[in-house]
Formats: sequence, C-alpha cells, structure tokens
Amino acid sequence: MKNIILTGFMGVGKTTVGKLLAKKLNMKFVDSDEIVEKEFDLSILEIFEKYGEKKFREKEKEVITNLATKDGYIIAVGGGAFTIPEIENICKGLCYTICLSAGFDTIIKRLEQLRRNRPLLKDKSLIEIKELYKVRMACYVGCNLNIETDNLTPNEIVDKILENLRTG
Ligand code: S3P
Repeated sequence: MKNIILTGFMGVGKTTVGKLLAKKLNMKFVDSDEIVEKEFDLSILEIFEKYGEKKFREKEKEVITNLATKDGYIIAVGGGAFTIPEIENICKGLCYTICLSAGFDTIIKRLEQLRRNRPLLKDKSLIEIKELYKVRMACYVGCNLNIETDNLTPNEIVDKILENLRTG
C-alpha cells in the first residue's frame, strides 16, 4: 500500500493519530522527527540550538525523501517539512497526504506544553506564532485529505480518515 503522510501544524496530533491509524491499517508507523533526532543523537531543541534550522531541514529532507520512496508506511512529518519544496513534491507525488488541521485557538490552548520542545514556538510572541500558523496553513493546501480535528478525539480522527480511505 502507498505510504500515508500526516502533516499539519505543530501540536495537531500527527504522531498520536499516526500510531492509531497504523494499527488499524496494519502498516508501519514512523515519525520523521524521531529519526532526525536519532541521527543527530540530540533532541529537536538541541539540534536547532547547536546546528540551526538549516541543518535540521537538510536532515529532515534526507529522511523524508528516503521514506517517501518506500511503501507501507504511515509517516508523521514535522509541521514545517512541506516548506521544503522537494519534500512537498515528493510526498504529494508519491504518497497519500493527509493534513490534520486545528484552529489557532486550539493550538494556543496547547501552547505551554508545545513550547517545551518546539524551538520555533519557544520564545515567540502570539503575533509571531499566528503569522507562522498562517504561512504554514498555506503549505498544507493540496493534500489529498484535510481533517479538521477540533473537538475530535484521536480515535474519531482515525475513524474519519478510514471512512475517507474507504469511500475514496
Ligand atoms: C517544526 C515542527 C516540529 C519539528 C520542528 C519544526 C516546524 O514537528 O519538526 O520543531 O517547523 O513546524 P511537529 O509538527 O511534529 O511538532
């Protein structure tokens, strides 16, 4: 089966949903950020601090383009992955892409927790985060499926995805 890519803004639940979906579909789950962390042997926060965003993006591109050419994976990609045209093109070209979206208010409710390990949110003002949110939402346009996740549990999100996969 074609890979399924889960994208969407930080904190929408890509990893949680991806793991559940993988179980239901009997596919393998991978989180691209986890692989990047393993390759550097550092956390995302440390990678950004030590090497900067550019190096992170280079590794992210290498990891995702490699995974995207395989089959049978549910891949949760970092919320900024589609800002790299090569990643966006290979994912949209070869895989079934799903965007999990959440309203800005939902993201803000989770902000305190997200700031702990998201370098791009850590020291940013609400105005800056809103700008980032707007720019990012534009990158997710054109995915095969968009699920609005506000007020849905992870299981309900998975059910919606499965329903869409069944009915095409
Ligand atoms: C990022 C999203 C993060 C992680 C990194 C940068 C982004 O992944 O890749 O902190 O640029 O949006 P999640 O979307 O899984 O939080």
